[in-house]
Amino acid sequence: MSVILAIESSCDETSVAICNNGKITANVIANQTIHENYGGVIPELASRVHQQNIVPVIQQALTDAKVNKKELNAIAFTRGPGLLGSLLVGVSFAKSFALALDLPLISVNHMHAHILAHFIDDPKPKFPFLCLTVSGGHTQIVLVKDYFNMEIVGETLDDAAGEAFDKTAKILGLPYPGGPLIDKHAKDGDPKAFKFAEPQIKDLNYSFSGLKTSILYFIRAQEKENPNFIADHLNDICASVQHSIVYILLNKLKKAALQYGIKEIAIAGGVSANSGLRLGLQSMADQLNWNVYIPAFEYCTDNAAMIAIAGYHKYLNGDFVGQDVAPLSRMEF
Ligand code: KG4
Ligand code: ZN
Repeated sequence: MSVILAIESSCDETSVAICNNGKITANVIANQTIHENYGGVIPELASRVHQQNIVPVIQQALTDAKVNKKELNAIAFTRGPGLLGSLLVGVSFAKSFALALDLPLISVNHMHAHILAHFIDDPKPKFPFLCLTVSGGHTQIVLVKDYFNMEIVGETLDDAAGEAFDKTAKILGLPYPGGPLIDKHAKDGDPKAFKFAEPQIKDLNYSFSGLKTSILYFIRAQEKENPNFIADHLNDICASVQHSIVYILLNKLKKAALQYGIKEIAIAGGVSANSGLRLGLQSMADQLNWNVYIPAFEYCTDNAAMIAIAGYHKYLNGDFVGQDVAPLSRMEF
């Protein structure tokens, strides 16, 4: 029997989940809308809001799961990578809670957890599988051999895919985080309307900074002729940008799948909520006979359910940490 409470606070979502014998029975997520007008997450503000949110979110999760804190068997938390001030709130709370209740602590790597979100619901991928993890801070192709035996086989050399979405949205005057808004406008646009520079990188790595610059110069040039260019063509611009990012992502994923001879393919992270990426992956899977695994929307962007399921598998392995544990803004994979 195991009842694990998990805390995620690496960026701008305060989230707490409960995992009861491998089943998620609560997953409460408090989003921070305060960053919308700043064009990105302001670390100082994020940690302050985590500080306000953490206790009510814990209480809500315990209520949702109908669990008394005395029934908990372990506390799992995101140790990193992420914003240090944000991580400190979750890690400190986890340590205090574990100390007060005399419970073991489980440290979870946020990037492992995005991948392990695939083990919350059925169907679950079979090892070994490849996972394209695409978030606001990371873009990685990971060879997953077992729950905690993973190897990065390709990653971005500069911006992450989520950053490419968010920075483009900023150029277009859309609020942060712009990824979901680009997705929304793209639904009514022509993905072939405009073409942007493609990165020329030979191995399994990615680069998105050139694309961002190409979009910026294109928009500036167009605005010289038509100052209302963005407003007049917003849906087409969004559809074309999304198409470019998805094309770049899937091309390298296909290359990795062929190179490793693997047909079990998963996507994870906030950008895996993108409808263009989901559709593109599905059609590539149909062509290449892949089994694809796409997480439910609530498990794509940051959430504590993925920390809880990772924590559950560590609990089964007896993999605990001591009270001297500290957060890591950069954490080895
Ligand atoms: O995994 P996540 O919640 O946080 C990080 O660990 O970074 O990912 C957040 C990123 C943001 O860049 C956001 O714009 C992007 O995921 N995102 C999307 C969509 N939903 C979230 N990007 C494109 N389309 C979406 N539907
Ligand atoms: Zn994340």
